Amino acid sequence: MEQTLTLTPKRVTDTRVEMSQVMEPGDANFLGKVFGGTILAKIDLCAYATASRFSGTICVTASFDRVDFLEPIEVGELVSFVGFVSYAGRTSVEVTIEVYAENILKGVKRHTNTARVTMVAIRDNRPTPVPKLVCETRDDKIRFLEGKLRRELRFRHREERQRIFDEYAAATDAELDELLQHERLS
Ligand SMILES: CC(C)(COP(=O)(O)OP(=O)(O)OC[C@H]1O[C@@H](n2cnc3c(N)ncnc32)[C@H](O)[C@@H]1OP(=O)(O)O)[C@@H](O)C(=O)NCCC(=O)NCCS
Repeated sequence: MEQTLTLTPKRVTDTRVEMSQVMEPGDANFLGKVFGGTILAKIDLCAYATASRFSGTICVTASFDRVDFLEPIEVGELVSFVGFVSYAGRTSVEVTIEVYAENILKGVKRHTNTARVTMVAIRDNRPTPVPKLVCETRDDKIRFLEGKLRRELRFRHREERQRIFDEYAAATDAELDELLQHERLS
C-alpha cells in the first residue's frame, strides 16, 4: 500500500473513524451472545484505521489496555466502533475506541465498552514519527493529558511488576511457602 509522508499537525476531530456492523450468528459464543474476541478484533481494526489515517503510514498494534465486557451484545444488534486519537507520542499513538450496541428493531442504543490501543507508525520496517495532535476542545486537552499519564503509569507498572516477578523467580522454596501462607491468611 502506498504511504504518504504527512507530518502536518492534525486535529482530534479529523482522526475520527466510525465502523458499524450487524452481529451475525457466526459471531456468537456458546451462550448465543457475541464473542469477546469478535469485538476485540473489530476494536483492533478500528484502531488501525484511526492511527493509519492520522499518521499517513501503516500502523501496528503495540498494546491493548484492559477491556471490560460489562454486558453482553446480542446477535442481530448493530455494533458501532468510534475511534479517535487521544494521545500522540513520537512514533506511537493512543487510540480510544468507544463501542456501542444498538437494538435496531427497538432503536435502543447503549455504550458497551471503552478500549485504548497503542499503535506504532511504521516506515521501512521501523517506527517512524507521527504528526502532532492538535487539541482544540477542553475534552481533547483532558484526554491528551490522561493518555500521557496512562502511558507513564503503564511503563511504571510494567517495571514494578517485573521487579516483583524477578523476586519470585529468585526466591527459595521456603520463601515461596511463606508468601503463600501469608496470602492464605490475609
Ligand atoms: C510495536 C513495535 C513496532 C515497537 O518496536 P520497538 O523496536 O520496541 O520500537 P521503539 O522502542 O522505538 O518504540 C516505538 C514506540 O512504540 C512504543 N511501544 C513499544 N512497545 C510498546 C508496548 N508494548 N506498548 C505500548 N507502546 C509501546 C514506544 O513507547 C515508542 O513510542 P514513542 O515513539 O511514541 O515514544 C514492535 O514491538 C513490533 O513490531 N511489535 C509487533 C507488532 C505487531 O505485529 N502487532 C500485531 C500483533 S498480532
